[in-house]
Amino acid sequence: MSKHVRHNRITVPQIRDRKGGEKIVCLTAYTAPIASILDPHCDILLVGDTLGMVVHGMDSTVGVTLDMMVLHGQAVMRVSTHALVVVDLPFGAYERSPAQAFKSASKIMRKTGCQAVKIEASEGASDSVAFMVGRGIPVIGHIGLRPQAVHLDGGFKAKGRNQAEREKVIKEAREMEAAGAFAIVVEGLAPDLADEITNIVAVPTIGIGASPACDGQVLVIDDMLGLFDWTPKFVRRYADLRSTIDKVAAQFASDVRSGRFPDSTEVYRLQSAQKA
Ligand code: KIV
Repeated sequence: MSKHVRHNRITVPQIRDRKGGEKIVCLTAYTAPIASILDPHCDILLVGDTLGMVVHGMDSTVGVTLDMMVLHGQAVMRVSTHALVVVDLPFGAYERSPAQAFKSASKIMRKTGCQAVKIEASEGASDSVAFMVGRGIPVIGHIGLRPQAVHLDGGFKAKGRNQAEREKVIKEAREMEAAGAFAIVVEGLAPDLADEITNIVAVPTIGIGASPACDGQVLVIDDMLGLFDWTPKFVRRYADLRSTIDKVAAQFASDVRSGRFPDSTEVYRLQSAQKA
């Protein structure tokens, strides 16, 4: 009998069909223990390049490499069985040409087994989306605030402050849809702009710092759990794990220093070897 286990994962067409219907639930996941907890609750697990900041302590996502995405994508895929797993194309891995984007995305998909990739709407990105989709790679587009453009923008800045910016973001949305993206992440937009885009495009929008009217919502798991030391305005903190872990570490340090850890139940009791 084959050892191969078939999972009943949510599929790309199922996500596409959720336009205007049941809201899409998406969280980021980067490690096996967290992915296994989130998997039953989520429609999409996003192995986002935010992992550079929240897991690896980088200032931005710019330093994240393709190999880092593969490593974390593998961890998430190993333990998840339900959610659609999407892995980000990191900075420098797709911008040169559609062929470069295909090469990076196919490496991610082959090495991790994930179902789709996500790409930020940098110049020419829609050509790359069309190229990848035409060759069998499902893609989510990412428009509005683009974390990989942090240096160009001079910070993580919400988009749509003036007419030109609004038109640019709407154009990005239309281009992503026309290129064949099956969903679009809309980040850091005024709610009315996110609503307008949600009404214009026929594929689901997944908001982050955007609007409740989007077809789904995504948050960075570390922000939501209160693990990261800076919380953006749009995040709802459901827990304060940073202070929980701080208290636990302080208690452990005190127990070790005072000799209270380990006690007699926390050591091995081995039978001494029988004498011959
Ligand atoms: O990398 C990421 O985590 C993302 C989310 C912010 C949508 O792209």
